[in-house]
Amino acid sequence: MKLWTGRFKKELDPRTNDFNRSLPFDSRMYRQDIEGSLAHAAMLGRQGIISDGDCEKITDGLLSILHDIESGALTFDGEYEDIHTFVEANLTERIGDAGKRLHTARSRNDQVALDLRLYLRDECETLVDMLKSLCEVIADKALLYKDAVMPGYTHLQRAQPIVFGHALLAYGEMLIRDIGRIKDCRKRMNICPLGSCALAGTTYPLNREAVAAALFMDGISNNSLDGVSDRDFAIELCSALSLIMVHLSRFSEEIILWSSSEFKFIELDDAFSTGSSIMPQKKNPDIAELVRGKSGRVFGDNMTLLTVMKGLPLAYNKDMQEDKEAVFDAVDTVEKCLAAFTPMLDSITVYKENMRKAASGGFINATDCADYLVSRGLPFRDAYKATGELVARCIELNVDLETLPISEYKKICPLFEDGVYGAISLETCVNNRSVAGGPAPSEVEKCAAKLKQSLFCL
Ligand code: ARG
Repeated sequence: MKLWTGRFKKELDPRTNDFNRSLPFDSRMYRQDIEGSLAHAAMLGRQGIISDGDCEKITDGLLSILHDIESGALTFDGEYEDIHTFVEANLTERIGDAGKRLHTARSRNDQVALDLRLYLRDECETLVDMLKSLCEVIADKALLYKDAVMPGYTHLQRAQPIVFGHALLAYGEMLIRDIGRIKDCRKRMNICPLGSCALAGTTYPLNREAVAAALFMDGISNNSLDGVSDRDFAIELCSALSLIMVHLSRFSEEIILWSSSEFKFIELDDAFSTGSSIMPQKKNPDIAELVRGKSGRVFGDNMTLLTVMKGLPLAYNKDMQEDKEAVFDAVDTVEKCLAAFTPMLDSITVYKENMRKAASGGFINATDCADYLVSRGLPFRDAYKATGELVARCIELNVDLETLPISEYKKICPLFEDGVYGAISLETCVNNRSVAGGPAPSEVEKCAAKLKQSLFCL
C-alpha cells in the first residue's frame, strides 16, 4: 500500500518493494506514532483546521488501533511501507474520510522525526534506570569490600596497593558520567519537529507549542529544514551508548582477568558462566566476553549513523531511513548487556585472601618505603634510589620488603628503623592513602555513600 496516488501510473516494482519498506523495523514505534497523531489531530481540531467531529473520529480510531495492536488483534502484516502508512491506512479503513484528514499540515518527514525522538526519549529513561541499578550494585559491593587489599596495576604490572571497593568505584564514576550523558542527550532530543512538515513548514495556522506540550516535549524546533533533517539526537545517543560499551567492555575485561586461575580474585556464579563441551574442568566467563564483544556492534552502529548523515543535502533524504536499524540495535544491545551484566556482578564471589596474596608480592609497597625515608628527611629522589637498591637486594635474597631483615635495610640507608615494617604494611599503605578520591577504606566508604546518594539526585 502506498500513499502517493494521482501522479503515478505504475505500482512500485515488486523487486524494490521490500527494499523500500521500513515497516519490519519501524513498527516498534507504533505507540509513539499514534501519540504524535493524537496530539496533532487534537491541535488541528482546536485550531478549526478540521471539524470537531472529524477530530473525535480520528481520536477514537487511533485509540482503537493502539488497543488492537497491544491486544494482538492487529498485526503488522501487509505491504505497508512504514509504520506511518500502516496507521493511517488502518485509520481510514476504520473511520473513512475523516482518516484522510489526519495528514493535513503534516508530512511523514516531520512525523518520523517526531516518532524517533519520542521512542528514543523513552529508551533514555530505561537506560538511565538500568545504569542506576548497576551503580547501586557497585556501591553496595564497594562498601562490602572497602578493605579488601589488592594490587593496583599500571601496564598490567603490580604497582601500588588499593582495595577492591576502590576499583569497583572507578567504574561507578564512569557510569555516573554515562547517566549524565544520556540525560543531557535526552534534553536536546525532547524538542518537537511537527509543523516542519515536508521541509518548508505550512500555510495552516498551527499551534506547534500546544502539540509539543501535549507530548511533554520541552519546546519546538526553530527551523523547518533542520526539524526534518536533524538526526544529531540519534548520533548523540549512539555516541553515549558507545562510551557505555567502552566502560562495560573494560569492566568485563577485568572480570575475565580476575576470574582466571592466574588471578583468582573473584569467581563468577555458575548461573553466569558456561562450561566447555570438551574440557570438563572449564568455567568460562561467556557473559563478560559477550559484553566485551558486543561493544563492536555499538561502535559500528555509531559509525553507520555518522556515515549515513555526513553527505546529505538538506532536507529529508531517504538515506535517513537507515538511521533506525542502527540506533535501535545500539539501544537494544546496551540494554541486553546491562540486563546480563548487573546480576552477573551482583553474584560474584570475592576471594579477599587471593587479592591480599597478590598484593604482597611484587613490591607494591616500594613507593611507601621511599616515602618512609622522605618522612625521615631524605629527599625523594635519594629515597627512590635507596628503595630501588632494597628491591634489588630482596630479589637477590628471594624475599619481599616485609621480610627483609632490618640489618639489610640499614646497610643501604642508616635512616631505616624497625618502624619501617609498620610503614610498609599493606594496611598502612592503603589506610594512609586517604586523600580525597584515594583507596583508603575510610575514603571508599565515603565515596560509595556519595555514589548511592547521587543516584537519588539524578
Ligand atoms: N520510513 C521513512 C523513514 O524512516 C519515513 C519518512 C518517509 N518520507 C519520505 N518522504 N519518503 O525515514
